[in-house]
Amino acid sequence: MILEKDGKHYTPNYVPGVSVYGEELIRERGVEYRYWDPHRSKLAALLRSGGDIPVDQCSSVLYLGAGDGTTVSHLSDLLTEGMIVAVELSSRPFRNLLSLTERRDNILPVMADARYPEEYDDLLGGVDYLYQDISQQDQVDIFIKNLKHFGPERAAIAVKSRSIDVTREPVEIYNDVKGRMKQEGFNVVAVRKISRWQKDHAIVSIDNRG
Ligand SMILES: C[S@@+](CC[C@H](N)C(=O)[O-])C[C@H]1O[C@@H](n2cnc3c(N)ncnc32)[C@H](O)[C@@H]1O
Repeated sequence: MILEKDGKHYTPNYVPGVSVYGEELIRERGVEYRYWDPHRSKLAALLRSGGDIPVDQCSSVLYLGAGDGTTVSHLSDLLTEGMIVAVELSSRPFRNLLSLTERRDNILPVMADARYPEEYDDLLGGVDYLYQDISQQDQVDIFIKNLKHFGPERAAIAVKSRSIDVTREPVEIYNDVKGRMKQEGFNVVAVRKISRWQKDHAIVSIDNRG
């Protein structure tokens, strides 16, 4: 369960006593929590902007663009009975991601290109929530490809407008992404700008239930 205190968010530490990226550790009713920094994690920024992360402790999450595992570590705190398949293309962040998994057995790190979901689909029984944070020009194509491949009910993409087109207003890009999702048959439930914490970013959330 995410703890909200004084407008800030915290996750219960899966590895008590250990801070992953220098974040503050606090104790609340006998449980140790890690501060979820919105300047370091777009999902924390999503929470700050009033959005939600539709996972519970048993969820299966496919995370594309895992980087060093900063955000993955907070999902690992939440998914105590679940699993995160964390896909990362580059070897340097992947090494840090690997070391994170030494103490966190609910993260499965995969070094792969998210443009090719068939490379990691045998690792997943099913996907409850797909989250993507990849700052490439073709980020929306990658997201749609994975949405079609895995068919999760819930999903979200962190859109970095400058990676798509640096010459256009971010809001135009967000509207384009929303339009493209609708065109492809996906139900967009929210577009939340998180530029207060993450420059020129918004999170587009999908809910395909019903
Ligand atoms: C913004 S960083 C991720 C930060 C991370 N999501 C977090 O919050 O801690 C984007 C990552 O996507 C990775 N990436 C870029 N293209 C990719 C691709 N085609 N497949 C998988 N990962 C990719 C980059 O190597 C980089 O580590």
